[in-house]
Amino acid sequence: MKLAGSTALITGANRGLGRHLAEQLIARGATVYAAARKPDSVDVPGAIPITLDITDPASVEAAARATGKVTILINNAGSFIGGSFLQSPIEDIRREMETHYFGTLAVTRAFAPQLAAAGTSAVLNVLSVMSWYTSPEMSAYSAAKSAEWSLTNALRLELAGQGTQVSALHVGYIDTDMARHVEADKNDPATVAQLALDAVEAGQIEILADDMSAHIRADLAAGASALYPQFRLTTALSDGERARTEPNFCSCSRHLRALKNTRSSTTFRQPKSLNARVLCRCSDIVCLF
Ligand SMILES: NC(=O)c1ccc[n+]([C@@H]2O[C@H](COP(=O)([O-])OP(=O)(O)OC[C@H]3O[C@@H](n4cnc5c(N)ncnc54)[C@H](OP(=O)(O)O)[C@@H]3O)[C@@H](O)[C@H]2O)c1
Repeated sequence: MKLAGSTALITGANRGLGRHLAEQLIARGATVYAAARKPDSVDVPGAIPITLDITDPASVEAAARATGKVTILINNAGSFIGGSFLQSPIEDIRREMETHYFGTLAVTRAFAPQLAAAGTSAVLNVLSVMSWYTSPEMSAYSAAKSAEWSLTNALRLELAGQGTQVSALHVGYIDTDMARHVEADKNDPATVAQLALDAVEAGQIEILADDMSAHIRADLAAGASALYPQFRLTTALSDGERARTEPNFCSCSRHLRALKNTRSSTTFRQPKSLNARVLCRCSDIVCLF
């Protein structure tokens, strides 16, 4: 999918990753509709601000009517409430699903005719490593991202016939407002935007932006005990399971981070008698992995 000369619409383009995607698409020669709930908060030189609340059907329809020739749709807008399934108000949990799942669906449905008219077109859905992994303080967000992942796969099948390529971007923490509370390593949003746009241009349907995404993606195949190693305490690991779960990756609920360069840190030590390779003390719960 050629980006130069395309017409893109990016949701949530007023800040964070969306803003970088807008800037970089313009630099690559695209016309960019920078969609935002408050269009006057868009300050991307050269972008066309447009009003869009992805959870409001009237707003979605109005945005689709106001454009007409979009050839690349980037579903980037996202919410993050934090909290857990048991503690958070049910309305907050519902809002995550309304934004990431129903919002992305509504926008894609509204823009599908424009994408079809282009002959060749693309959708990029900004997912997360949390589409494949969950933790108590991110459970509602993770469930919504998992739903959006399934949605993305289904849309790819449905839109293939009209010449629309559908790509999924999976990424760990990005250094934006959404991850302001996180102390772990974070990806530079400009780097993530560049990598994602290169991948869309190259026709990739699944984009893994960092090591964390690659590790978690690999662990999916190894089953739940690879993703949630704290539960390995209760069962003996077979040699095969150990071999599959060897990567130096801590998926503890608090930090979820790659350990490649931190093996010598005092926060980790080799266990003597347990069926695990390293003990991680970066969480309230001591995690085995
Ligand atoms: N940051 C991370 O660590 C991380 C990691 C993996 C994936 N992601 C994903 O990356 C995407 C971008 O997030 P970010 O990191 O750039 O977060 P961010 O800085 O918090 O930006 C979120 C954007 O989404 C917009 N938005 C939220 N609800 C909306 C709605 N109902 N309608 C329209 N726009 C809405 C916000 O608009 P307002 O300014 O009006 O609030 C804002 O522009 C999200 O899909 C997120 O899930 C983020």
